[in-house]
Parts: sequence; structure tokens; C-alpha cells
Amino acid sequence: MGRGRRLMHGHCERMDVPMKKQHIVLGVTGSIAVYKVADLTSRLVKAGYVVDVVMSKAAQEFVQPLTFQALTHRPVVTEMFTLHSEMAVEHIALAERADVLLIAPATANIIAKLRHGFADDMLSCTALATRAPIIIAPAMNDRMYENPVTQENIRVLQERGITFVGPGEGYLACGTMGRGRLTDVLDIYDAVKMVLGRRGDLAGRKIVVTAGGTEEPVDPVRCITNRSSGKMGYALAEAARDRGAEVHLITGPGSLRTPYGVRLTAVRTAREMLAAVEAATRDCDVLFMAAAVSDYRVAEAAQEKIKKSAGAPTLELVRNPDILASLTGDFVKVGFAAESQNLLANARAKLTSKGLSIIVANDITRAGSGFGTDTNEATLLFADGRQEDLPLMTKARLAHIILDRTADL
Ligand code: CTP
Repeated sequence: MGRGRRLMHGHCERMDVPMKKQHIVLGVTGSIAVYKVADLTSRLVKAGYVVDVVMSKAAQEFVQPLTFQALTHRPVVTEMFTLHSEMAVEHIALAERADVLLIAPATANIIAKLRHGFADDMLSCTALATRAPIIIAPAMNDRMYENPVTQENIRVLQERGITFVGPGEGYLACGTMGRGRLTDVLDIYDAVKMVLGRRGDLAGRKIVVTAGGTEEPVDPVRCITNRSSGKMGYALAEAARDRGAEVHLITGPGSLRTPYGVRLTAVRTAREMLAAVEAATRDCDVLFMAAAVSDYRVAEAAQEKIKKSAGAPTLELVRNPDILASLTGDFVKVGFAAESQNLLANARAKLTSKGLSIIVANDITRAGSGFGTDTNEATLLFADGRQEDLPLMTKARLAHIILDRTADL
């Protein structure tokens, strides 16, 4: 293992949902963005988290507590001292129960209260009493956000270890454009998974993942590429992030959402990918090479658009570097082989010739295993001769199994 360190043993096979029910306390404060947080709440509940919602008075002006109660199937906390509530008996019960405290949307007011340690309602009280990590997703008018007071409050809270996600930039409910809108709820969802996984079995590990197909220019308009969607590489990057790893994702062109909390380098050609991977692997523990790299490029791409009136062009192709084969270093290499015939023989040959520890082989002619799908049916081949046939499963689940096996090495 890189720099004399060993990956700790992985857990049993993971899904994209938490193994043990983890507890999220979701603080909701007064911003119109609260309607977006209803969607976030639904996602968190569907993923298997237990969500206890605490609403400020102002939040209740925008949305009724019933909305969150219906989504979470749990009582919503609106008052600090409600006699029929179990929270009244022990008003810091929520603080103790939380695995993470998420405040979304967070107004300038709650941010200011947290910075100064106020505890005048259930949410600020919970924030003050909890030992769980805190995530804040701000939403406010751009001038309130940019005000030096708010900026200073945020900086101080960040220094205390609180994670801020967003705000985003764009159209604000007050009719202006600027920074202050609640960030994409998918990023908030990812931030929760990342923060909960911080002490996971890959904590402290540096992992480089490549994804997608490369693009080789023919002229300023056309290119040679392939059908890789990048989904497998992105799934690996997210799974590694959620187990505590520091992840650098190097990706070819594509339309997938940049995963929150992952360093992303976008490249086009195989040679650009080689340069990026070379630099990133100087200091990493594992390289997962899920990208579909173009083996050939056009010897000399045309400077101007090729016109059809000039007749059918002949393209002279030259070999691209083999990134996996050319890289050596004190890190584990995991490759991928998408084949349409002789799957195992071809994959095993690549495992040996490229000096890999594991190769993930899949037959692209099988249903559910082709490019662009969300599922894959793979066989893992190991350098020591072992073989593991896996059933059809989501790429997210497969990513966790690949990480488990890599961690076991
Ligand atoms: N790979 C690479 N650089 C290349 C081609 C492939 O690093 N120029 C990596 C891929 O990212 C993958 C593994 O090598 O992890 C196998 O890729 P694949 O395209 O299946 O293999 P090739 O070596 O290109 O062999 P062939 O095209 O003959 O199947």
C-alpha cells in the first residue's frame, strides 16, 4: 500500500443506503427555499435515514409542519416546551440523538445565533448542545449574504468545523440575481453522506478515479469518441467520498453532475488524461481507471472544418499512450475491461500486461451491462488468480464492492 500504509478491512458489502439507521436532525428556518427542503427530506427518508425536523417560527410561516411530518412519519418539533412532546422531558434529546445536524435553509439570523451561542429556541439549543457534526445550507438575499457581518459569522463557524454547502448563485426570490440561493438539494444530500462517512474505512486515503470517454479531435467540429457515460467512475468517486477518502476525479466530457466534495479535473483527449493522471497519482493510494480511453487519435487534426466538397477524407490514426500500462508507482491499480467477446481471457490478459491488482470485467452485450446504464454485471479478476462473479446490480452498489475488495488487499 502507498507510503507504507494499509487500507483497513472493508465492511461487509454495502449498498448506497446507510447500513445502520443514521439519525439526521434537520433544522428548517424561515426562507422561501423551505419548499426545496421538503424534496431533500423525502430523499433522505427514502435513502433510509431517520429524520427529525425542527422548524423555527418563521419557517412555519412558509410551510406547515404537517408537510415534514408526512414526509418523515415523525413528529415535527416546533416549540421548545411542548408538554405532550417527548422533547419537553429532555430538551437536549435531539442533540444527543443526532448523527448529524443539518440546517437547511439556514437564514442569516440562525447563522448569527450559532456564531454567538444563542439558545433561545429548539434549533439553536440543539446546535449548542450537540456533539454531532453540523452542516449549514444558507439561503438569503444576496446583500444579507455578502454583508461583512454574515461573512464573518460564516468564517468563524467554518473555523469551528461547521461545513457550509452553498449558497448558489442565480435568481433569488426577491427578484434579483446574486449569490444567496439555497444550493442544489442533491449537493446538500451528498454533503450529508460525506460528513457522515468522514470516519469511514477509507478516511485519510487518496483515491484517483478516471471516468467517461476521451475525445480525439478530427477538426474543430468533429471528434472520435466512444459511448462511455462515465457513470461507473462517478459512482466509484461518490462511494469513496462517502467512506472518508479524498477523491480526485479525472473525467472526459460528459453531462453528469459534478459530485459534491470531490475534486474534479475535466479533460478531453487521452494525452490530457495521461498528464492529469500522472500528476494526481504522484501522491495517491489507489487509481481506479474506469475511463474508456481512445486507443488512437488522428495524426494531425485539421485546423479548419473539413468540407464535404473536398471529397471523403482519409484519417490517419496514431496510437495514444496506454495510461494504465505506462504508470508505475507506490499505489494500487484497478482497471476495467468492457468486452464484447472472450471476456475473461481478454480481461485477464489486461490484468497481467498492465500490472493491475484487480480488473473489473463486464460483457457489454448483456442486458443491463452496456454503456450508459445504471446497472452492471461484472466479474472481478484478481492478480492472485481469484475470480468473483457478481450478479447484476446498480453501479453504486458495485462501486462499494470494488472498494471493499480493494481495501481487503
Ligand atoms: N486504458 C488506458 N489507456 C488506454 C487504453 C485503456 O489506461 N490507452 C485502461 C482503461 O481505462 C481500462 C483498461 O486500460 O481500465 C482496459 O481498457 P480497454 O480499452 O478495455 O483495453 P485496451 O488496452 O485498450 O485493449 P483493447 O482496446 O484491445 O480491448
